[in-house]
Amino acid sequence: MDAKLSQVFVLLLSALFIASLSDTSHDEQARKTMEDFSGYPAFTPHSCLSISPSSLSVDIQGLQRQIEELSSFSDSPAPTVTRILYSEKDVLARRYIKSLMAQAGLSVREDSIGNIFGRWIGTEAALPAVATGSHIDAIPYSGKYDGIIGVLGAIEAINVLKRTDLQPKRSLEVIMFTSEEPTRFGISCLGSRLLAGSEELAHALKQVVDGQNITFLEAAQSAGYAIHQEDLTSIFLRKDDYFSFVELHIEQGPILENEGVPIGIVTAIAAPASITVDFEGNGGHAGAVLMPSRNDAGLAAAELALAVEKHAMDSGSLDTVGTVGVLELHPGAINSIPSKAHIEIDTRDIDEERRNIVVNEIHQSAIRIAEKRGVKLSKFKIVNQDPPALSSNQIISTMEDAAKQLNLSYNLMISRAYHDSLFMARITPMGMIFIPCYKGYSHKPEEYTSPENIVNGVKMLALTMANLSSE
Ligand SMILES: *[C@@H]1O[C@H](CO)[C@@H](O)[C@H](O)[C@H]1NC(C)=O
Ligand SMILES: *[C@@H]1O[C@H](CO)[C@@H](O)[C@H](O)[C@H]1NC(C)=O
Ligand SMILES: *[C@@H]1O[C@H](CO)[C@@H](O)[C@H](O)[C@H]1NC(C)=O
Ligand SMILES: [Zn+2]
Repeated sequence: MDAKLSQVFVLLLSALFIASLSDTSHDEQARKTMEDFSGYPAFTPHSCLSISPSSLSVDIQGLQRQIEELSSFSDSPAPTVTRILYSEKDVLARRYIKSLMAQAGLSVREDSIGNIFGRWIGTEAALPAVATGSHIDAIPYSGKYDGIIGVLGAIEAINVLKRTDLQPKRSLEVIMFTSEEPTRFGISCLGSRLLAGSEELAHALKQVVDGQNITFLEAAQSAGYAIHQEDLTSIFLRKDDYFSFVELHIEQGPILENEGVPIGIVTAIAAPASITVDFEGNGGHAGAVLMPSRNDAGLAAAELALAVEKHAMDSGSLDTVGTVGVLELHPGAINSIPSKAHIEIDTRDIDEERRNIVVNEIHQSAIRIAEKRGVKLSKFKIVNQDPPALSSNQIISTMEDAAKQLNLSYNLMISRAYHDSLFMARITPMGMIFIPCYKGYSHKPEEYTSPENIVNGVKMLALTMANLSSE
């Protein structure tokens, strides 16, 4: 046989060999085999991105059915959704997500705390993958879209790409992160924070308990995760595991809807800090103790709440926000002077230094107020103080390009809420796509985004991932 003929022969043999392989590894094997035997570079049909944006078709009815079905795994009645980490409903919802990933032909992996990964293996499987994803846990009495769009929408974005003839070069992966919401253990973005290598969290999780005094490890075990303390650092990802991470999310604010703009491209995620403060006074009878002799812990807390507002407003930027979302008084009786007060403070900014100044001012105020009112500042604990994250310029321009190709106008904007992306940014270039939501409502049952918005978001995600996968 001459060289050409023998090549054809080898290709034929390869084809037979490939035909006997399982579906998932089919394309990868095909490419490998051709590369190994032909002596020519692999034939890659779409090494240069050539999917036509107008050919993308989103199965919006199917996706809406999935959103409804997922919302039925809830511990509160419809239309509210309550899905707490490692609860029975959370376990069922996780099973549902894994089944959708499998249906999409993804290879599914779960780590020891239940972060779920579904991968479409690319033609160059050894390259760092392009990842997307979000969360499906829901705070009590919330809605159907927060986080969900970034998981179900991402699986659909993969389906959209599979309906074109794209063969991604880099693998594409959908991640469902464990416990973005802090509901059960008071730790937000637990899964992504740990994946991003937080030693501090790995350590803290050995002791942390929920409101029922159930430890994190016990809770994880009851949900079927055979986790051991020493396992926790083993789930850390490496910096070269991913080429990039992109998250699709509802805006959770009113700007896009008000301006009639269908897409938000996030340039930065504000830096959150949270603080818990306890004051202790003498308490006493609300009738018998005269005003000058009181050490009212409740008033110290109230004064600190006003100080939080003042420090945030005096920062010189509208990007600084401060909130007291929890204020608890003990013993909590109308005729008893509060002897203890517990408050929880959230403050954020896109400028870390300015945010840290505010945190420090709040601390100074707490000390001053305690002194002035003769109460004890028994606790001032900075629970977390995270840096902000900037989106990658490459991902931003890819997204701008995708929006132009889809004829969608967009805003470049800051995410004032934080997301798993804040932590993924520690290990890989990050970007986020926002879609409008009704009146900016979130974390309540009125949360809503239209089918049209969802279609736009899924297409944006699909095009962005297709581009990144070919880089
Ligand atoms: C965007 O608009 C152009 C010009 O009107 C049109 O040719 C193209 O098909 C549109 N693309 C999409 C994805 O709708
Ligand atoms: C929580 O559980 C631990 C270990 O079982 C026990 O020592 C501790 O007293 C419990 N705390 C409360 C508040 O019940
Ligand atoms: C991906 O998008 C970037 C930014 O728009 C562009 O420069 C690049 O050519 C695109 N890559 C492919 C493979 O389409
Ligand atoms: Zn969310």
